[in-house]
Amino acid sequence: MAIKMDNRLQEPLQVKENGELRYEIHFLNTFSGLADELQKLGYPADVKACIVADSNTAPLYADAVKEELEKAFGKAVVFLLPAGEPSKTLEHIEDLYEFLIQEHFERRDFLVALGGGVVGDMTGFAAATYLRGIDFIQVPTTLLAMVDSSIGGKTGVDFRGHKNMVGAFYMPKLVYMDLSTLKTLPQRELSCGMAEVIKYGYTFDAPFLSILKGSPDKVFSYDLPFLAQMIYRCCNYKRTVVEEDPREKGRRALLNFGHTIGHAVEKLKKFTLLHGECVSIGMAAAIYLSMKKGYLAESDLDGCRELASLYHLPTEVQADGFNAEDVLKTLKSDKKMSAGKVRFILLKKAGEGFIDHSLSDEELLDAIHSVLKE
Ligand code: GLY
Repeated sequence: MAIKMDNRLQEPLQVKENGELRYEIHFLNTFSGLADELQKLGYPADVKACIVADSNTAPLYADAVKEELEKAFGKAVVFLLPAGEPSKTLEHIEDLYEFLIQEHFERRDFLVALGGGVVGDMTGFAAATYLRGIDFIQVPTTLLAMVDSSIGGKTGVDFRGHKNMVGAFYMPKLVYMDLSTLKTLPQRELSCGMAEVIKYGYTFDAPFLSILKGSPDKVFSYDLPFLAQMIYRCCNYKRTVVEEDPREKGRRALLNFGHTIGHAVEKLKKFTLLHGECVSIGMAAAIYLSMKKGYLAESDLDGCRELASLYHLPTEVQADGFNAEDVLKTLKSDKKMSAGKVRFILLKKAGEGFIDHSLSDEELLDAIHSVLKE
């Protein structure tokens, strides 16, 4: 069924590679229209779709998406993953391969990632590797996945405790967002998405930070027109950056603002803190370092802490069973290294991130101490 104009919250964005359209990002308030978009991409009626969803999202939306897909395509099946970061492993990918083999999935069939970042990364990785590559689409249902992880083709799993250590760059054929799914998102998850939203403000867009300062009520009351504008603005930054640098050889690393210390904390806290919470802690540390390097003022650090607290995000973490040295060691074993140097994102000013390779261990430890409660 063709999509009605009033179901579209924003015009679609196009993600290009070398000037050629690779995929579109659609912003709607309904799943009706997903089959239509897929038909426009040329999938014939007899292809099969496998919806991959986790134990939180599947009970809410898997039936609706399955019904929508079955309007247009032969068969849609659902593969269930246990919810949460601990499931982001090769073992669960193997279970998905097994399921696809049992369901006779061929190279012409496709996968649908329905859910948040973990489901999107895993489905994309399975799609990149099953039969040497089958198509997949992203149907993100969390704010974090909508503004960040569903776009740009980063797919993969955690490996033996190392976050996102194994994976592939593999582009979706479509990103389709039904923003009304945000209404069922728990507040903690919404806050986590806001950490990535705030990241865009600090890295690219200072006026956006001022808007965000005045908007917690709109976000937490699920003001759909506001959320649609906010998400569109983030996706537009993400789109521009991944078009310029799809494989993170340079500028795309800016999107890792807050993630270097954030990922180390996430691992050392054994994933008891959520990704966005760790990014928020990592951003506070990066802003502290930018201040120490003379780029930012103390008031910027206060501003970051205030903004985070407006969105119920932490800027400090309790060190239980680890210390600052452990955080340093862990971040050095992460993949954000280049020729043995930590690749760290600092700010020249709010709204202008840059990539730094010059930080000493002492400077990094100082930044870690600024967020660690020992
Ligand atoms: N989440 C950062 C990136 O996609 O590059």
